Amino acid sequence: MKVTLSVLKADIGSVGGHTLPSRRVLARVEEVAREEVGRLLQDAYVFHIGDDIILLLSHTHGVRHPSIHELAWKAFREGTQVAKEEGLYGAGQDLLKDAFTGNLHGLGPQVAEMEFEERPAEPFMVLAADKTEPGAFNLPLYLAFADPMYSSGLLLSSELRPGFRFRIMDLAQTERDSYIELDAPERLYDIAALLRDSHRFGIESIWSRRYGEIAAVVSTTRLRNIAGRYVGKDDPVAIVRTQKIFPATEEFGPPFALAPFVAGDTRGSHHLPLMPVKANTPASSFFCVPMVCGLVFSLREGRLSEPVDLFGDPVWDAVRARVVEKAQEMRRQGFYGPAMLPMEELEYTGIAERLRELEREFS
Ligand code: 13P
Ligand code: 13P
Ligand code: MG
Ligand code: MG
Ligand code: MG
Ligand code: MG
Repeated sequence: MKVTLSVLKADIGSVGGHTLPSRRVLARVEEVAREEVGRLLQDAYVFHIGDDIILLLSHTHGVRHPSIHELAWKAFREGTQVAKEEGLYGAGQDLLKDAFTGNLHGLGPQVAEMEFEERPAEPFMVLAADKTEPGAFNLPLYLAFADPMYSSGLLLSSELRPGFRFRIMDLAQTERDSYIELDAPERLYDIAALLRDSHRFGIESIWSRRYGEIAAVVSTTRLRNIAGRYVGKDDPVAIVRTQKIFPATEEFGPPFALAPFVAGDTRGSHHLPLMPVKANTPASSFFCVPMVCGLVFSLREGRLSEPVDLFGDPVWDAVRARVVEKAQEMRRQGFYGPAMLPMEELEYTGIAERLRELEREFS
């Protein structure tokens, strides 16, 4: 059976700052989606990370289907209505256009979708990040799909032996989408040369070279490219299939435990580590440290099992304690050097204006 997974995410308002959506907003979004289970949809699951609501929809209509995107748009619009009634902060923040035009791409919400022939057992995970950029998934996914130091399956399993194909997007292109496809392991250094620059390049999808099967897909929407100004951080989502012809679920944990420094946190303008947290965690009052959560599901004829939290077991409390220290160390130096983003990546224009004024005082 051919199944499509669509993950659509938007920030439509949050309580007391950029923290988390209210229970009523979440309930409304979930209600709109659930109404279509058994009709347009096979199944639906709704959760949040920080102030972002994630809709996971399974169906048989293929990617970029107008009815699926329209349903998500409707759910986010109706949720926004509740957020406005409640006076939530940034109500409708990620809905950058007024009208639905057949597709969510370019309207503000993040979109990650894949269609595949369902395996007899189809484990997959949904990853969702808050307070960060699409390139935030670059290093963890590179390590899980291309580095045998992290992914021992690349050595141990003949299924994984030919490696994976990386489709990488140039996130700076605003006129049209621009991609390159590179095969690991042969082009490993070229892949690394691009992915190291997480502000500029982002993994868009990853494919099994032996089977031509899609392994992973990441949302690549840059809000600034749509709005032309700072409207919050992009906060990407990803879908990753696991086991058998793909890396095992447990081979994704250690790459995330690294918690690499990424762009994001306060005013989307700093570098802090990407902290693995449980699903439905509010954004942190500690500078809005970038966060990622992961839910792992099994799929049968498009029906979702209950999820398991990828970062929910006791190991992750120890990981988080270390990540907090790493974050504190960086933020102790405030605005200085790599703690704050370089000028061309800074989301706020205030500092550019200040520098222009100061320029006139130079002699
Ligand atoms: P189990 O015996 O618990 O199924 O172990 C499977 C495994 O190899 C995990 O990596
Ligand atoms: P989001 O609303 O995109 O999560 O980020 C807001 C922000 O800049 C917090 O400082
Ligand atoms: Mg927000
Ligand atoms: Mg957010
Ligand atoms: Mg955002
Ligand atoms: Mg087992």
